[in-house]
Amino acid sequence: MKNLRELDVRGKRVLVRCDFNVPIDDKGNISDKFRINQAIPTIEYLRNNGAKIILMSHLGRPEGKDKKFSLKAVADYLDDKIGNVKFCDDCIGSKPEKEASKLEEGGILLLENLRFYKEEEANDLDFSKKLASLAEVFVQEGFSVCHREHASVVGVAKLLPSYPGFLLEKEVGVLTKALENPERPLVSVIGGVKLATKIKLLEKLMEVSDYVLVGGKIANTILVLKGICVKDQWSAEETELLDVVERIDLTSTKLHLPLDGVIALRDLDQKYMRIGAVGTLRKDESIFDIGPETIEKFKDIIKEAGTIIWNGPMGYSEVPAFENGTREILKAVAENKGFSILGGGETAETVSKFASEDQFEHISTGGGAMLDFISGESLPGIKILG
Ligand code: 3PG
Repeated sequence: MKNLRELDVRGKRVLVRCDFNVPIDDKGNISDKFRINQAIPTIEYLRNNGAKIILMSHLGRPEGKDKKFSLKAVADYLDDKIGNVKFCDDCIGSKPEKEASKLEEGGILLLENLRFYKEEEANDLDFSKKLASLAEVFVQEGFSVCHREHASVVGVAKLLPSYPGFLLEKEVGVLTKALENPERPLVSVIGGVKLATKIKLLEKLMEVSDYVLVGGKIANTILVLKGICVKDQWSAEETELLDVVERIDLTSTKLHLPLDGVIALRDLDQKYMRIGAVGTLRKDESIFDIGPETIEKFKDIIKEAGTIIWNGPMGYSEVPAFENGTREILKAVAENKGFSILGGGETAETVSKFASEDQFEHISTGGGAMLDFISGESLPGIKILG
């Protein structure tokens, strides 16, 4: 990939694809600003070097121009934080053209949600051309959207000289090192809900890691596959996994599954709750968190790790009764002296609930993008920069 530092950006209009897809409530409050903050070093660099900066992003999955999905709140936040940030309530056409042409060196303009136009996700050439016409240079800063073959991700990159932003460089560098040349032992901790979305990830991590610790609902599914838990716990949507999961060696000594769990009735009547070995699960019960014996075992392995890759909570951590496993495992990761990488959907929220960002070496902004990257998939938004 090219190096943005080698480009003289002074006086040039630079179009930066960010991922400001952040949670915003009805009152316009942004509950998690992590992704926005992570893009600031690149924005500041461009500003300090005299570029005219045009930021673009999507937010959510709107059907047409739905103001609920406006990026105005992000522009206001950025303006408070770094100053001199203007908002344009459209991303193509005469308004952004006019605003972009008025930009002074160091000026910043944030365009309205790209997904207000269906052409964005369709990777429409004309739409890409309209975006590209606003600038002379393109910077890809949205690592977390690089798995999408969209107009602002690949279309524009084909039309303008394109460079990776610093966040993208950092994400790719950290993940590549962890996968190809990690400090050992490499311990991967995987949790979450849908095994189907994590099969490839699991397969890859089993290949490169020394230990793979699995919690969350995906562990329950594997326990069923191994015949340890009663079949009735199988979630209907995962039955097709029988074939796929055969690619993973469930007998491997690298793989560590929960020994015990916090068990409750399926209908989540929390008056009934017990801690028990996974093999004692009854048909009307489910495992909602890893149990104390599992926590101890996982902690012992994490303590010795040179590198840790963490993806997904250990249980149904939104409910206080089932958050202990996630809290304890995150604590163990934070206390480990090696290099820890956390990522996947909702990671930043989970971290802010149970720990603090500065306890970890790298928190990835990528949800699906990080999973795809680790799984060895080619990310179109990165490939196009190569
Ligand atoms: C994400 O949150 O993972 C990215 O912003 C991509 O969003 P999407 O899944 O709606 O494409």
